[in-house]
Amino acid sequence: MKNNQKEIKRIAVLTSGGDAPGMNAAIRAVTRTAINNGMQVVGVYDGYEGLIKGDFIELQSQSVSGIIQRGGTILRSARCKEFMEKEGRILAMQQLTQAGVDALVVIGGDGTFRGAAAFIKEYDFPVVGIPGTIDNDIYGTDYTLGYDTCLNTVVESVDKIRDTGSSHNRIFFVEVMGHESGFVALNSGVACGAEVILVPEQKNQLEKTRHFLANCIQKKKLNLIMVSEGLKDGSAQEIAEKMRIEFPNHDMRVSVLGYIQRGGSPSAIDRIHASEFGVAAVNALIEGQKGIMVGLKNNKITYEPFQTAVKLHKSVDQDFVKIAESIGTYTPLG
Ligand code: F6P
Repeated sequence: MKNNQKEIKRIAVLTSGGDAPGMNAAIRAVTRTAINNGMQVVGVYDGYEGLIKGDFIELQSQSVSGIIQRGGTILRSARCKEFMEKEGRILAMQQLTQAGVDALVVIGGDGTFRGAAAFIKEYDFPVVGIPGTIDNDIYGTDYTLGYDTCLNTVVESVDKIRDTGSSHNRIFFVEVMGHESGFVALNSGVACGAEVILVPEQKNQLEKTRHFLANCIQKKKLNLIMVSEGLKDGSAQEIAEKMRIEFPNHDMRVSVLGYIQRGGSPSAIDRIHASEFGVAAVNALIEGQKGIMVGLKNNKITYEPFQTAVKLHKSVDQDFVKIAESIGTYTPLG
């Protein structure tokens, strides 16, 4: 603990933004680590919304039993516009003070950390973040909770689509989530053996798709075009509609995987990293750190200030793009 730091006796934990598998495992790790260090723990329902309303619950070690394998978040989540306003943050600070909370752990994505960054600018309050989003798009960490489970869900789903694609000699456009980042599409595309991968970080997506379709032989095997959401050229549906006009002889179908990518029991990797992150977050607070997000770089726990985590952009790894390119059937990424 730093010399001038108030001793932390009571911490609050919340989940905010899109839910992600592994959030429950992180809540569990935060709660148990804090209790084992003599602190009390308060769970906040519905993210920043519950912080503003004071919708709190006391958490004991037992309260987080049997949740490590559950998807979603037992504390529920929300995207809260009110917390992005000063008035909302004043109310949140009042609720924390009234509940005698000395520190806060927030689990979520970039919107969550943007809120936390605004909050700590106004109040000298210890807040530590844990990255949780299936998009894996947070700067300052190689990995975010939920990403691994999401990749596994995509792979499992595409393997099923492959049965239809290859039985019917079809070309499938499969759209996956990722907000404005291509991590899910690029990595699941490689894992699923996609012929083409379209990610927001690349240009000329239509030309690349066109080039593939012009050279593609329907071969009683799945021809897979993995499409990330957030493309400038439109959704998988929109791209497929354009291509159907240009290539009427190809039998094309679209499958948008949607919210199944956010659900399900967390993978072992997500549970393990959630546990590590939860312990690291509480230890960081005990050491007197604040205004930081715990993360993982080269398999080591790291700490990134909220300011840089939200300001800087994390792009898909160009070395991995090259790997995808060298395996791709026709269309290089670029
Ligand atoms: O951030 C996770 C995510 O699922 C993104 O991939 C997607 O763009 C977005 O959330 C959807 O958000 P909502 O649940 O608000 O529709």
